[in-house]
This record gives sequence, structure tokens and C-alpha cells, in this order.
Amino acid sequence: MSGRLRWGLRARLVVAFVAVAMLGAVVTTIYSSVSLTSQFAASARTRLQSSATHFGDVAAVVSSRGRWDLQSIQTLHHLAQIDSLAVRLFDAGGQLVFTHPPSAAVQPGAAASAPVMVGRRQIGRVTVSRDDGRLFTAEEVQLREQLTRMQMVAGATSAAIALAAALYLAVTLSRPLRRIRAGAEAMGAGDLDARVPESGDAEIRAVAEALNGLAETLRQEERLRKESVADLAHELRTPVMGLLARIEAAQDGVLADEAANLAAMHDEALRLARLLDDLSALADAERPGLLLSVEQVDLAALADTQVGLFTGSFADKGIALSSDLEAAIVDGEPKRLEQIVVNLLSNALRYTDPGGRVSVVVRAAGDDVVLEVTDTGIGISADDLPHVFSRFWRGEKSRSRATGGAGIGLSIVRELVRAHGGQVAVESVPGEGSLFRVVIPQAARPRSV
Ligand SMILES: Nc1ncnc2c1ncn2[C@@H]1O[C@H](COP(=O)(O)OP(=O)(O)OP(=O)(O)O)[C@@H](O)[C@H]1O
Ligand SMILES: [Mg+2]
Repeated sequence: MSGRLRWGLRARLVVAFVAVAMLGAVVTTIYSSVSLTSQFAASARTRLQSSATHFGDVAAVVSSRGRWDLQSIQTLHHLAQIDSLAVRLFDAGGQLVFTHPPSAAVQPGAAASAPVMVGRRQIGRVTVSRDDGRLFTAEEVQLREQLTRMQMVAGATSAAIALAAALYLAVTLSRPLRRIRAGAEAMGAGDLDARVPESGDAEIRAVAEALNGLAETLRQEERLRKESVADLAHELRTPVMGLLARIEAAQDGVLADEAANLAAMHDEALRLARLLDDLSALADAERPGLLLSVEQVDLAALADTQVGLFTGSFADKGIALSSDLEAAIVDGEPKRLEQIVVNLLSNALRYTDPGGRVSVVVRAAGDDVVLEVTDTGIGISADDLPHVFSRFWRGEKSRSRATGGAGIGLSIVRELVRAHGGQVAVESVPGEGSLFRVVIPQAARPRSV
């Protein structure tokens, strides 16, 4: 574990940077030293060759009829001394005529030779090298060493700069990562209010934003969960307390009207049963692989039946219920599709005041089937809109209503619509009304009539 930490981003960056800088320095040094050496050698050989040619010319001039007497040899000797050269002169027969110094040890490749020509006749050959037998002069050797030293200094400098740059980059890169890690750890430890600063490079910012988004979602889910449990406890408490009170009153014998008491107890029990039904319906709707027996269903006919069943309730409340239904076939489970329509209609009924209007529309739109339930009810505020499909969420107004539900109806709708491969959306203006729109893909092959 600690080994992995040691070889973190920072170490890897530093090693990579320094390695690249060193490699660059080494390659440059080798390349320039090889090319410099060959350049130096070429110019030294040219120099030697011209010395040899020159010496050959002089040897020709001082010779007499292709031979060299003592005086001419002395002249050549002086000349070689002045030029610091080691010289060997051969006659036309290849016999050594003259050598200076007497035994010069010559490095391989550090000598040049030239013919000794009188007119067009070759009377001999000279071999010339430097008198120390080396190809390069001391200055040249020194210059080469100096250049190599300079290259090494340049290499070391660039490695040092690379190291500094890598350290700087590693620190600036890993600092925001460390901040993100600290934030993520805080979130992991349960502090869902912790946030990561959304600054720095685009990539880092994107990660920070994603992490903060995740924390926000978790926080909301957590809040919702707490609220849900509280709501559920509250929902259950009211009918249970009512029941308890009535049972105790019956036990104490303080009841005036037993029949009315029983009816009220029945109502409370019904409310409990409905709540439990809703809860199990939601659990059911959230189950994966929900649809067991899919068939082709005409959503219009299905909606028509429900509108018929609801007519009485709407009329009782003084709300006008109308429908505009165009045959549209979807692949689905009739019971589940029915539940979608029922939940939307019961909301419209519950959240619309007497005198209002509710309409149900089913129509085909492209490859989809659209079901719309529109009301002129209390509406939903823009702040509340994103929450209406959340489990147990209820608007403030519906909470205060005695008739309010448990906040489950729309969650069931969303799950059922999803199971049918569709989507549900809502548009609403507070005080004016709401429109719930369900879009489900049309059946693959329309049913033959
Ligand atoms: N047609 C509507 N008009 C205005 N507000 C609505 C409408 N439908 C839903 N809402 C709001 O959305 C909330 C959630 O709706 P949902 O159907 O999930 O729960 P509910 O109706 O309160 O209870 P339940 O359906 O479980 O009996 C409601 O409490 C209400 O505030
Ligand atoms: Mg409802």
C-alpha cells in the first residue's frame, strides 16, 4: 500500500520528466560528439594530406635527377623540424631514403602520403604525420574535451530544470486531486454537506462538479428518506391513534352511538389498508422485470373505461370531466396501464376545486402514444415540480388537506411508465392548473382490426 503511495502521480511525473531530459541530453551529447570528432578528424587529415603534398613538392625540388644528396636531405630534415612533422621519404624503388625523427611511432590513420613527382615522373613517395604520431594537435584535443564538458553541463542543467518543472507540475496537479480526495473522504464518512472547490483545470473542475453533484443527490435522497420515514410514521399514526381512541372509548363504555363508532373505525381501518396497498403497489412498481404478461393494449379504450368509472366522483365534486380519445396501441400490461390513468385522474380530482375542469387526451404522435391529463386545479410551484415524482413527496398544500394522500401515486406512475419504456412529464402553473403527459412507444405491430 505504502509502496503504491510512494509511486504516486508526483513520483511518476518527476521520473518521466527527468528521464526525458536526461535522454535528450545524452542523445545530443553522443550525436554532437560523434559528428564533432569526425569533423575534427576530417580537417586534421586534410591538413596532413596538404603537408604531405607540400613535402613531396619540396622533395622533388631539392632532388637532383631523382636522387637526394646529403645537402638536400639536410634541407628536408630542417623543413620537417620547422613544421613539427615526422617524415619518411622513399625513392622510386621503395627504398627508405630519409626518416625524421629516426623512429616515429604513428597512430593508425594519423599519416598521409603523397608521390614525389618531377614533371610526369614519380621519383619517390613521402609519408607524413605529426611528430608526436597523433592525428590531433593538443589544442584540438583540449577543445574537444572542453566541448564535451560544456555538453555535460548543459545536460545536467536541463535535467535539473526538468526536475524543477516536474516537481512544480506534480505539486500543482496533485494539490487539487488531494483536495478532491479529502472532499470525497468527508462525503464517504457521512458529511454530505462537504463540497469540493470547483476550480483549477477543466478536467479537475469537471471531476469536482461531478462529485459535488453526486453529494447533492445523496444529500437530497438522504433528506427524502428521513422525511419519508417521518411521513409514513405520521400517516400510520393518525388512523391508528383514531382506532385506539375509539377502542378505548368502547372499552370504557363511554360511547353514545356504537354504530357510528364502528363506521368511523371502519373508515380508519380502510385508510390504513389503502395506505398499505399503496406501499405494496410502489414496492411492486419498483421491482425490476415488472411487466409479466405484455399484450397490445388500446390506451384510448382503457382510458375511456376509467373516465367512465370516475365520472360520478367528478360530478359529485362539481368538476367537469371531458375526454378526447383516439385509438392508440401500446405493448403493455392492462392492469398497470390502468393504474397510471387512475393515479393521474385521482390527483386531478383531489387537487382541483369545485367548478374546475379536467380533460383526458389520448393520441398517437409519431412512434409514440401520448396520454395527457389536464386540470384547472391548484397547480404546482416551480420549486416543487422537480419533486412531484419522488416517493412520499407531497406539496405543502396537499399536506394540510385532510384528504391528502401519502405521496406515492406519482412515484408509482413514474415506475410504471418506465417499465413500459416511456416517460412522464409535468407542466404546471400555480393557481391555474397542471398537465401530466405520459409518452409510451407505440406497439411494434398494430393489432389487426
Ligand atoms: N394534478 C395535480 N395538481 C396539483 N398538484 C399535484 C397534482 N398531482 C400531484 N400533485 C402534487 O404532487 C404531490 C405528489 O403526488 P402523489 O400523487 O405522488 O401523492 P399524493 O396524491 O399526495 O398521495 P397519493 O397519491 O399517494 O395518495 C401531491 O401531494 C401534490 O402536492
Ligand atoms: Mg396522488
